[in-house]
Amino acid sequence: MHTTNPIILLSVILVLSLPASKAQTQLCSVPGDADLPACVEKLRSSGGGVVEITAEVQLTEALNLDNLSNVDFVGTQDVPMVISGGVRIPLSPCSNFQDLLCGDLSSIKGLARHLYVNGVRHSRPKASADVVALFTAESTTVSTSSYTIDTKELDSRLVKTVASWSENVEMVYTGQGSPWSESRCAVSSVDATESTLTVNMKTPCFDTLQNKPCGQSKSTPVTIENTGLADLLSSDDENSFWVDAENSRVYVKTSTSQSSFAVIPDLETLVSGSNVRSITFKNLSFEHATYNQATAPAGFIEQQSGALVYAPVTNSSSCDDTTWLPMPSNVRFTDSSSVKISGCEFRALGAGALQFDGGARNNQVTDSLFEDISGTAIQLGEYNTANITDKSLQVTSNTISDNLIRNVANEYHGTCGVQVGYSAYTEISHNEIYDLPYSGVSIGWGWGRSDPSYASNNVISNNKIHDFKLLLGDGGGIYALSAQPNSTVDGNWLYNMGAGAGGGAYYPDQSSAYWTVSNNIFSNASFCSDDCEWLHVWQDSIHDIDIVNSYVDTTTYENNGIDVTMENTVVVEEGQDWPEEAKDIMDNAGVRQ
Ligand SMILES: *[C@@H]1O[C@H](CO)[C@@H](O)[C@H](O)[C@H]1NC(C)=O
Ligand SMILES: *[C@@H]1O[C@H](CO)[C@@H](O)[C@H](O)[C@H]1NC(C)=O
Ligand SMILES: *[C@@H]1O[C@H](CO)[C@@H](O)[C@H](O)[C@H]1NC(C)=O
Ligand SMILES: *[C@@H]1O[C@H](CO)[C@@H](O)[C@H](O)[C@H]1NC(C)=O
Ligand SMILES: *[C@@H]1O[C@H](CO)[C@@H](O)[C@H](O)[C@H]1NC(C)=O
Ligand SMILES: *[C@@H]1O[C@H](CO)[C@@H](O)[C@H](O)[C@H]1NC(C)=O
Repeated sequence: MHTTNPIILLSVILVLSLPASKAQTQLCSVPGDADLPACVEKLRSSGGGVVEITAEVQLTEALNLDNLSNVDFVGTQDVPMVISGGVRIPLSPCSNFQDLLCGDLSSIKGLARHLYVNGVRHSRPKASADVVALFTAESTTVSTSSYTIDTKELDSRLVKTVASWSENVEMVYTGQGSPWSESRCAVSSVDATESTLTVNMKTPCFDTLQNKPCGQSKSTPVTIENTGLADLLSSDDENSFWVDAENSRVYVKTSTSQSSFAVIPDLETLVSGSNVRSITFKNLSFEHATYNQATAPAGFIEQQSGALVYAPVTNSSSCDDTTWLPMPSNVRFTDSSSVKISGCEFRALGAGALQFDGGARNNQVTDSLFEDISGTAIQLGEYNTANITDKSLQVTSNTISDNLIRNVANEYHGTCGVQVGYSAYTEISHNEIYDLPYSGVSIGWGWGRSDPSYASNNVISNNKIHDFKLLLGDGGGIYALSAQPNSTVDGNWLYNMGAGAGGGAYYPDQSSAYWTVSNNIFSNASFCSDDCEWLHVWQDSIHDIDIVNSYVDTTTYENNGIDVTMENTVVVEEGQDWPEEAKDIMDNAGVRQ
């Protein structure tokens, strides 16, 4: 692949924010460094380390190459190269609060939505339950741009609390309107009169929330984040922080005491490539990027699986007319092919981690680790692309194999381990995916528009997917939509389905068709008391699926499909051993050594 081109270390270094004791020289800068090979040499001899970038690396423009074919970005062998969008902020005890640390945010360009101390993600303070309850009270009225709370009978403490809120207090609508989604809208200001509090919300976010397509609207928050210093002080979470934006100051409560600095992810995109081909990324880490959409006017209105509605919605009772865009990732390739990501690490990221959109072809993500990600680990393809007929624009022949994906979707709980829109010849194999609030793998989302689309010949095989659906409902370990002819789910081991209501370990939802589902294990899929099915085929729009050689430890399933056949389902009773064939499947599932 790279016989004629140099191996290039990705390295875009503008280390501006390191304390003097950590001084690093500026090795190369992109854009601007005309002599790339020299830059590479400098990096090599530096022995790697953390590279703090202060601007997005755009692979089309930033690098001074005719085109980007056949270029490799390879980390050093011994010391990992970390591409970081974080800024270090010195911390010292706050003068007014002994138990808190304070830092100055004047070097931060963004909103400081995320914060790390000693590699530990810190959370933002939340409103107490009695404050959240004000927004669900019957006397509270809701308009397209505000909540108005009647304060005549209210405890003055509650009134004072809400009246003190500043911009960017964030309402979180977990499972509201639809049990699988989590939308967010931010406050813009609060007006108080003698008898009311009007909490003005950012629009169009709040309007869209109340006009979500398919009649899935509900505007009662479940939690309220980023509320203020008082909630930080009373918080049980020993690792949390609050940003006093007005005074450009951060207050940090941390149990990781030794550290004298925090890392604040400040970039929203670390690396983006457009129309790139045959690039390899090896042995690199991508860390500390953020994502500020939830506080933007359009907000974060989620339909499902990170599919966002940015407004306007013409008919909210219809499911048909909306444009959905996937929640973005911090590393993103558009219209790119033969990009290989191998042996890389993605961690401490505030959006999704890695995304291929546009016409993605022959890309491979292998042997990589994804952990502590706010959204999905990997987004492949999009949701409004069912009717693309130009083959060069279709998402085809991409591979996601041998990756370890854990503790992702840890902020945006409606996102999944791996999210795939419309695609053909996608292979998702030998991954281990776990610790998820909602679904493990979602493939073919788009609500079956233009069915049958080009989505076909997809393979989900030999994955180990567990501890999923821990919070939200109506999802699965493997969740599918749309007709996907000649597609297979084979040799997977799915276990520990969590308490989120509804759905099932394997869940081909509305209009799913033409799958062969063979040799899979579904274990501990029924520990919860209600609606815990290993197979969830809930209605007759689901058709032509063959389910053979399934090994299960529960008899709870639902099959209301048309021509959905089930053959040789082996039920293992409590206390019984799994058959040898099942043990082989278990042994073979997950990351290969
Ligand atoms: C540009 O791309 C073409 C087609 O992939 C390739 O043949 C050519 O070698 C590339 N040029 C450079 C400078 O990489
Ligand atoms: C990547 O890392 C692995 C393990 O640390 C090492 O064996 C391999 O040689 C490295 N590859 C490159 C290109 O540095
Ligand atoms: C909105 O969509 C619903 C459901 O598809 C349909 O019945 C209704 O006629 C639509 N309303 C308008 C004004 O188009
Ligand atoms: C494809 O579908 C989108 C909506 O999802 C629509 O806007 C577009 O006109 C359709 N294109 C064709 C060629 O049907
Ligand atoms: C599915 O496979 C059959 C048999 O190999 C083939 O005839 C058909 O064209 C395939 N369909 C698609 C959409 O690839
Ligand atoms: C079954 O799965 C649940 C949910 O992940 C987990 O809490 C529980 O410990 C599991 N039970 C066993 C016996 O592994």
